[in-house]
Amino acid sequence: MHTINDHRLIDIPKIVADDGRGNLSVIEKDLIPYEIKRVYYLYDVPSDSIRGGHAHKELQQFLIPLSGSFDVVLDDGDHKVTITLNRPFKGLYIPNGLWRELENFSAGAVCLSLVSEVYMESDYIRNYKDFKLFKASNSPT
Ligand code: TYD
Repeated sequence: MHTINDHRLIDIPKIVADDGRGNLSVIEKDLIPYEIKRVYYLYDVPSDSIRGGHAHKELQQFLIPLSGSFDVVLDDGDHKVTITLNRPFKGLYIPNGLWRELENFSAGAVCLSLVSEVYMESDYIRNYKDFKLFKASNSPT
């Protein structure tokens, strides 16, 4: 079962136009450790909102702050870590089995999410007590 130490910040290759026309970043299939099955994005998030607030049994995720910034709090049931995402060329890989909350969205922030599964409500654990039970039942004894 994964711990918070299994998250990874991944640099997304950046191509800088040498004539000052700006930057381009590209994600090709080998950059993240799964096949992308779904893409969604969060935007117009009020600064006092908390998104996420769940774990996934199987789904793996890669988050990219396309614009602005936000914090991602990861929790494995024993420890927490907060990661600030604020560069569109640096994404966060989150393995399955971690509780996550997204907060402190800046004005205009856009969070792109590339995920390993189609939408399936049965993959969600939306109650923290259930998450702790899930962790306990999946831990080596
Ligand atoms: P939810 O997962 O609770 O959002 P967040 O984790 O960002 O706070 O999803 C909000 C609603 O959108 C919920 O009713 C489920 C629905 N939804 C879909 O129908 N398809 C999707 O791909 C996603 C991510 C959510």
